[in-house]
Amino acid sequence: MLIRSAEQDIERVIYTEKAIAARVEEIGAELTRRLGDKRPVLVCVLKGASFFYIDLCRCMNCAIDMDFISVSSYGAGAQSTGVVRLIKDLDNNITGRDVVIVEDIIDSGLTMHYLKELLSARKPASITTVSFLDKSTCHDKSLKTDICGFEIPDEFVVGYGLDYANYYRNLPYIGILRPECYK
Ligand code: PRP
Repeated sequence: MLIRSAEQDIERVIYTEKAIAARVEEIGAELTRRLGDKRPVLVCVLKGASFFYIDLCRCMNCAIDMDFISVSSYGAGAQSTGVVRLIKDLDNNITGRDVVIVEDIIDSGLTMHYLKELLSARKPASITTVSFLDKSTCHDKSLKTDICGFEIPDEFVVGYGLDYANYYRNLPYIGILRPECYK
């Protein structure tokens, strides 16, 4: 593993801070249009979605409730372990509520599938899934989210919450990590 400076480790920036902000604003407007009169519960999937989640909440022009869940399936590696671990559950009951699951990325789709099953069992009024990024070639079409920021190719991306071994989350842009950094 080779962790140097972001300038050296990032092969290419694919979404700048400005492009991210513009897309988040559009998603916020879309969610407000769909659920604005329902006081939806926005569920942040820690830790990756944290930056997107906070920006998205600020772009919603309606009353919302905020809640946080923490799951992990990658650990310190570059590949999913295939097992999703629940680290922290929601604080509040979601029965009868309109829930929005907010993810940073859908890769294999395992995490979102797990979360939908987990939260559906609590009988919410509805579940809307949102992911900022979607590696659509890496998972079955049935795992596609209701709203997606950008569809991306199968590259290892970091920044704006996305990490490799907990590095790079705080980069303000999304970039492709050089393979020598994680192989
Ligand atoms: C990452 C990411 C998503 C999930 C997507 O989380 O934030 O939650 O993996 O991958 P999948 O579609 O293959 O399941 P991770 O388990 O690395 O935890 P983190 O958010 O704390 O980084």
